[in-house]
Amino acid sequence: MNVNHHYTETLSTSRFVCTLSRMSRLQDQDPDIAQLVLDETRRQEDGLTLIPSENHTSGAVLEALATVFTDKYAEGYPGRRYYAGNEVADRLETLVVERAKTLFGVPYVNVQPYSGSPANFAVYLATIDPGDAFMGLDLLSGGHLTHGWKASATAKLWKSVPYRLTADGRFDFEHMMKLAREHRPKLIWCGGTALPRTIPWAEFAKVADAVGAYLVADISHIAGLIAGGAHESPMPYVHVTTTTTHKTLRGPRGAMIMVTQKGLDKDADLPSKIDKAIIPGFQGGPHLNTVAGIGVALHEAMQPGFKDYAARIVENAHALADALTEAGFTLVSGGTDNHLILMDLSPTGIGRGMLFHSGLERMGLYANKNAVPNDQSSPFYPSGLRLGTPAATTRGMTTADMKQVASWIAQFAEHVKDIQVPADKAERQRILKAFDRSLITDPFYETLRGEVRNLCRRYPIPASQ
Ligand SMILES: Cc1ncc(COP(=O)(O)O)c(C=O)c1O
Repeated sequence: MNVNHHYTETLSTSRFVCTLSRMSRLQDQDPDIAQLVLDETRRQEDGLTLIPSENHTSGAVLEALATVFTDKYAEGYPGRRYYAGNEVADRLETLVVERAKTLFGVPYVNVQPYSGSPANFAVYLATIDPGDAFMGLDLLSGGHLTHGWKASATAKLWKSVPYRLTADGRFDFEHMMKLAREHRPKLIWCGGTALPRTIPWAEFAKVADAVGAYLVADISHIAGLIAGGAHESPMPYVHVTTTTTHKTLRGPRGAMIMVTQKGLDKDADLPSKIDKAIIPGFQGGPHLNTVAGIGVALHEAMQPGFKDYAARIVENAHALADALTEAGFTLVSGGTDNHLILMDLSPTGIGRGMLFHSGLERMGLYANKNAVPNDQSSPFYPSGLRLGTPAATTRGMTTADMKQVASWIAQFAEHVKDIQVPADKAERQRILKAFDRSLITDPFYETLRGEVRNLCRRYPIPASQ
C-alpha cells in the first residue's frame, strides 16, 4: 500500500479521514485509483468551490452510493420490472419517490433519470412530437444546453425558439409573449444555469397558458433553495418540473422529473408518458445506488436544519455580491436573490472571463467563466465569471468569509488589470500562454493559494450534515 497519508495530520475531523477509513480494500487492490480519490479529496478540502452547480454531499450520501444497489438491474417501475429479484429495489424506489413527493408537494415523481440532461430529454419525448416548436432561455443568456442551444440534439430534433434576457439581465415577458404568439410553442422552459434573480413563475405561466403550451421549470440550480423555503416553488404554476439532485439539493449526481397537479389537470396521462419516455424511451435500468443516495439527500432536506442552510446560502451570496460591488465590480442585474452571482468583467475589457477562471483556479478558488447577456466575446472566451455559495455554506463559511473571498478576487483583478484578451486569435494565444506561464512563476499566486488554503482548513468539508 503506497497511498500518501500525510494530509490527515491537519484534517482530523474532515471528509478526508472518512474517505481514507472507508478505502482499505481499494488502497490494497488499486492504489493508483485510491491515490486519485485522495488527491481529489485534498483538492476539494484545500480549495474553495465557488462553482454554483457544485456542492459537498454528506458522508451518508456517499455511503449510500457505495452499496450493493449498484449491482442490481431494475428496468421498469416498482411492481412491474423486467428482471427478477427486485422486491427490495421496489421498496427503495417507492420510499424515495414518496420522500420527493412530500418534500416538493407534487402528486408524481420519477427518480430514475441518470442526470439532468436525460431528464430534460425525457420531458420532450413525453410532451411534444419531433419537429414541434418549443421555447427556452438562450444559452448565452443563462439557459442550459438542453433548453434548445443550437449544438444540442434538442435543437436538432425539435424546433428551438430561444428567448433572451435584456442587457441588464432581466426577463422580457412582453417579448416572450410576442415570440410565443408568433411560433405557437408546445413547450416552454423556465429556469437556467446562470440566473442570479428570483424566477417569476407566475409571469411564465401567463405566457405558456396564453398559447396552451406545457410549462416546464428546470429547477436544477435552485432545488435546494426551494426545498429549504428560500425561493418560491414553481409547483402551482408549471405542469412539469425537472431537477438535478447534486446542486443546492446536495445529493448525488442524478435527477428527478415531477408532474404537478396543474400538469395532471392538463393531461392525466402525463405521469405514464414520462415513465415511458424514461424507459423504454430513453434509458435502460435505473442506477439504484444513485436512487438510494437521492433518498438520503431528500431525508436530509426534510430536516429542520436544511431551512437554515438554504437561508445561509442566500445570505452568503448577498455578502459576496455586496463586497464585490464595493470593490468596484459590475454584477449582471446588479446583485443576486439566490445562490449565484454573475460578474460582468467587460468594463475592464471583453473576453476576460478566462483570465479570472484560470487565475483564481491557481489560487484555489474554483469558479467558472461564463457568458454575460449580450456578450460581445465568443462563448469560449466569455466576458463573465459565475460564482456561487452552496459549497462554501455547506462547509460552514459565513458572510465574513465571503468578504475575504471578494478581497482575494479584487487583489487578483488588480494584479492582472493590464492584461487584455484580444479578439485576434494568434495574439490571444500569445497573451494567454504568457499568462499561463505566469501562474507558475509569479509568487503572487502561491501566496494567495496559501491564504485560501488556510481559510479552507478552518472549514473542513463536513462528513455529516
Ligand atoms: C439548469 C440545468 N439543467 C440541466 C442541467 C444538466 O444536468 P447534467 O449535467 O446532470 O446533465 C444543468 C447542469 O448544469 C443545469 O444547470
